[in-house]
Amino acid sequence: MPEKVLVTREIPQAGFGPLEGFDVTVLSEAPPERGELLGAARGAEGVLSTVTEKIDGEFMDAAGEGLKVVANMAVGYDNVDVVAARERGIVVTNTPGVLDETTADVAFMLLLAAARRLGESERVLRSGRWEWWGPKLFTGPDVWGKRLGIVGLGRIGQAVARRARGFGMEIVYHNRSRKPEAEEELGARYLELDELLRTADFVSIHTPLTDETHHLIGAEELEKMRPRAVLVNTSRGPVVDEAALADALVQGRIFAAGLDVYEEEPKVHPKLLDLENAVLAPHIGSGSIETRDKMATLAAENLAAVLRGEAPKTPIKS
Ligand code: DGY
Repeated sequence: MPEKVLVTREIPQAGFGPLEGFDVTVLSEAPPERGELLGAARGAEGVLSTVTEKIDGEFMDAAGEGLKVVANMAVGYDNVDVVAARERGIVVTNTPGVLDETTADVAFMLLLAAARRLGESERVLRSGRWEWWGPKLFTGPDVWGKRLGIVGLGRIGQAVARRARGFGMEIVYHNRSRKPEAEEELGARYLELDELLRTADFVSIHTPLTDETHHLIGAEELEKMRPRAVLVNTSRGPVVDEAALADALVQGRIFAAGLDVYEEEPKVHPKLLDLENAVLAPHIGSGSIETRDKMATLAAENLAAVLRGEAPKTPIKS
């Protein structure tokens, strides 16, 4: 009997290649309701999940004792309870390495758009309110030559730093541990978070969401930032206190923000929605056609490997 595999969302076709030979059930394009998800889990031996599904102990128990692997189609895996998985002997995998450049593109896109007021000015143009070119109209801070503070110098943070070098930016970073090789390669300088926040013109967040990084950037941290600073977040929403950020933007304590992720997706803090100085993308960081193909393929390869009794390429070490 072929092993039962549950794919929790419709994924790119590329992801189905490695799943050939398994008994595959695919749920809907939209995130499944919790009840539907738990019902569909029953009897699954492998699950290919995405960031929108909460894969916790309850889900694992609903699947039953045959569940061997949860292959998350994302580099972040805060939606998976890895402790519950370990207790049940379930392997968890993610998709690192295939989305770094693509996500860095979006971080840099948000950085540029927020600084140079693209969202706001485009809204004016489209609504027919653009009346003239103006010497002071839609001006924002330069990006080139400024100081970029990267919080979390992992693969994606480093890819952002490479882009910043092309803009002649000075790169400083904060990370749990020093990264001597990246310092050498990127000319990046390590700073304590406090100094980074106080001195950077742009701050881009690239930390995973953990208990330590929850609300890493809150009212106190935003208070330290420069009045013309721009904050970019493409990691996970809860790393930034969204209400505090909205307040800081309303009061002009920082210049602008570019966000791809939110505390309670798909909800966005209502104040942010009203702000001209917030550029808001709907979690599209890894959303290039090529990268989503690679993510789906890697997740499926990981899943298939575990079900065949082989080592997956990118297991999470918990
Ligand atoms: C990830 O890979 O963690 C992204 O947020 C999903 O695209």
